[in-house]
Amino acid sequence: MGKIKEDVLAKTANTSSPDVTFGIESDGAYRGILELYIIDAGRAEIGLSVEDAYQGRGMGRALFNRGLAEARARGLDTVDVHFLRSNQAIRKLCLEAGGDIRANGSDCMSTIKL
Ligand SMILES: CC(C)(COP(=O)(O)OP(=O)(O)OC[C@H]1O[C@@H](n2cnc3c(N)ncnc32)[C@H](O)[C@@H]1OP(=O)(O)O)[C@@H](O)C(=O)NCCC(=O)NCCS
Repeated sequence: MGKIKEDVLAKTANTSSPDVTFGIESDGAYRGILELYIIDAGRAEIGLSVEDAYQGRGMGRALFNRGLAEARARGLDTVDVHFLRSNQAIRKLCLEAGGDIRANGSDCMSTIKL
């Protein structure tokens, strides 16, 4: 969501353990990733990221819809999404999915009822 040091990024990636991961490949590599973290029996959190050069081509929407469908298929009730206030693309996707938007400074959170 913002600038982050390489060593912090590597440590975070190496200790991250999403319950479900979906990716979209293009030009021989993964360019977009969605991670679903199941928090408890009814609730999950989505992390979604598309490489800068590949944004604006529908990858984020496709992954987001797939992630929500997976959460529904697993019987979850609610999905949370954390994002920066400046990110209009994820804001749009959350609102379209029926999510609310709560802001705290530059951070936003959306809760989507499935
Ligand atoms: C959020 C993110 C994944 C979107 O990926 P993307 O591949 O660019 O998304 P899409 O191309 O599917 O666009 C989704 C919608 O947002 C719209 N959109 C994109 N940028 C926009 C902007 N600046 N203002 C308004 N709408 C915008 C698109 O037009 C599209 O709507 P449409 O299908 O009706 O045209 C990407 O911006 C990203 O990786 N951001 C950094 C990580 C992050 O903040 N993730 C969210 C928190 S988990």
